[in-house]
Amino acid sequence: MEWTFGWWQVSVQRVYPTTTELSQTYNQAANRWHQHLRLLGYSHAYRELWRRFKNTNLLPQSKDNLTICDCGIGTAAFSLAFAQMINPATEITGVDISSEMLNTAHRLLSQAKIRHQTLRSDVKILPFWQMNLDAVISAHMLEHLADPTQGITEMVRISRPLSAPLIAEVVTCSGLPGWLIQQHWGTRCFNRKSFSASCMRQD
Ligand SMILES: C[S@@+](CC[C@H](N)C(=O)[O-])C[C@H]1O[C@@H](n2cnc3c(N)ncnc32)[C@H](O)[C@@H]1O
Repeated sequence: MEWTFGWWQVSVQRVYPTTTELSQTYNQAANRWHQHLRLLGYSHAYRELWRRFKNTNLLPQSKDNLTICDCGIGTAAFSLAFAQMINPATEITGVDISSEMLNTAHRLLSQAKIRHQTLRSDVKILPFWQMNLDAVISAHMLEHLADPTQGITEMVRISRPLSAPLIAEVVTCSGLPGWLIQQHWGTRCFNRKSFSASCMRQD
């Protein structure tokens, strides 16, 4: 935002946390994250989303083993809901910048007996190419990126070899709850237009 007053120009620009700052913040939040998700209804909402997806035939659900990559997996709530509602034999690769979130994800996925691997990496530079994925999923991660298009581009790249569907639509929307989350976590909010614009720019 920029304003001009006479001979003066004033500008205000968002400052995003660095990757190191963000991973430290999530390392500290990891202990209580999963419980908070449950209390706030996110775990239920994730299951409900996948339940609706199940009826769309967008995913090859009848395959014996689905392979998916969850970008910004956190404590694996979105992936666990996927396995529960779509296919319990799913093999999950979880990517995140926070080692503590990944540790919790590993523990919870192991408890649920879901085949998985976790990888500490920035979604903006994913360290793999041929993954033969059936889907790339992501919940509430893109809003942390100063340029969401960078993350979307990488997710599309790793989904390309088999033209896997890219499902990255779970983002924080504009509104009072979104604004409160934004103040606390330094994230951005999306509306339909800004999210579509980020997706369109990746090609
Ligand atoms: C709001 S949490 C969401 C976690 C999980 N998807 C869920 O729904 O509970 C955002 C997650 O994205 C991770 N994250 C943020 N920026 C990232 C990046 N550039 N690359 C990979 N992970 C990132 C954070 O460490 C955190 O675990």
